[in-house]
Amino acid sequence: MLAAILLFGLAFVAAQQPRPCESPAQWQAKLYRSDYSKNFTEFAKVTYDETNKRVREIEELDFNSDREFYDVLYLHNQGVEYRLGLKSRQCNKTALTRPFRPFGIPPESRYEGEFNLGPVNIPNEHVTVISFFGKFEDGSEYVGTVSSPDCIPVSSGFYANTTGFVHTSFYDVVPGIPDPTVFDIPSECGGPGR
Ligand SMILES: *[C@@H]1O[C@H](CO)[C@@H](O)[C@H](O)[C@H]1NC(C)=O
Ligand SMILES: *[C@@H]1O[C@H](CO)[C@@H](O)[C@H](O)[C@H]1NC(C)=O
Ligand SMILES: *[C@@H]1O[C@H](CO)[C@@H](O)[C@H](O)[C@H]1NC(C)=O
Repeated sequence: MLAAILLFGLAFVAAQQPRPCESPAQWQAKLYRSDYSKNFTEFAKVTYDETNKRVREIEELDFNSDREFYDVLYLHNQGVEYRLGLKSRQCNKTALTRPFRPFGIPPESRYEGEFNLGPVNIPNEHVTVISFFGKFEDGSEYVGTVSSPDCIPVSSGFYANTTGFVHTSFYDVVPGIPDPTVFDIPSECGGPGR
């Protein structure tokens, strides 16, 4: 019996991925994203649902800008993207073919180290972050930091041939999704409205 427990314990340890922690599967946050290949920077509110592979992003309006801002619903579970123009109120539904890429630490990532953001010698004014590097199957690369010990996304950098380098910072993260109707399809897109 003891031998069986020991064996099981060893097998479990050996099979475990070297992940220091696991990010929450559902959260809301604000994000700041720079896409260097497109000279594009945006602020957005994001609701993230890894369990159901869906993300909603609402770009923050800047009334000094003429460009269109979007409210986008990415339903990877159905392979559909709804993109609603916040000024035009026009909605386009398109096929979503790229894979869902989780934020947080991917299972196959390499742990790079731990450091603090903010002054280390002032209590309650710093956060310890874990930094990691990973590669997806399609060859795209990923670097990121998450807070320790709960693995809350802090920043991520993503590089693929097709997208170039995209940097994202997350702030005001709140784990959980208090109102699941954020994933309802907007009325402009043929949904029941929300
Ligand atoms: C980005 O901006 C720089 C400087 O304004 C410009 O030289 C470059 O062509 C732009 N790149 C793209 C992809 O628009
Ligand atoms: C929808 O598609 C049309 C045609 O491609 C385009 O002109 C329009 O800007 C798109 N609207 C949104 C909200 O993406
Ligand atoms: C990127 O593109 C180059 C040439 O176009 C190719 O040799 C390389 O394998 C690609 N890398 C990835 C990660 O797809």
